[in-house]
Amino acid sequence: MKLIVAIFQPHQLPAVKQALYDAQIYKFTVTNALGTSLKPGYEETFRGVKHEVSLLKRVRLETAVSQPYVEPAIEAIIRGARTNEQGDGKIFVMDLPECIRIRTGERGTRAI
Ligand SMILES: Nc1ncnc2c1ncn2[C@@H]1O[C@H](COP(=O)(O)OP(=O)(O)OP(=O)(O)O)[C@@H](O)[C@H]1O
Ligand SMILES: [Mg+2]
Repeated sequence: MKLIVAIFQPHQLPAVKQALYDAQIYKFTVTNALGTSLKPGYEETFRGVKHEVSLLKRVRLETAVSQPYVEPAIEAIIRGARTNEQGDGKIFVMDLPECIRIRTGERGTRAI
């Protein structure tokens, strides 16, 4: 099992969601996030004073999947989130040793 964490542009969320559904991946969690990468942020003027905005709005999507769904999930996220611009986002893939369904106590791929 892997935990896939993707950080990408909020306006790509509907496309990512649809791409995951198309790959038969229906279980994921989305949170609002603030992020920065090497690209400097843009400037915004607030009460006449310029501020560099170095943390930009992103979404963070997490999906825990069994092995056969790892590559389909990655491909779906790329399909939904890619615009070929800098700042399109990033995908992190982590080993996931355990998953437990609270309602039943089932574990591992049975629970995922
Ligand atoms: N190494 C990292 N660790 C944690 N978060 C990251 C990392 N790289 C990117 N992110 C997150 O992903 C967001 C988007 O990253 P971004 O797509 O700009 O990455 P990049 O490596 O600069 O690629 P690009 O050249 O396409 O811009 C960042 O704002 C940040 O929230
Ligand atoms: Mg960048």
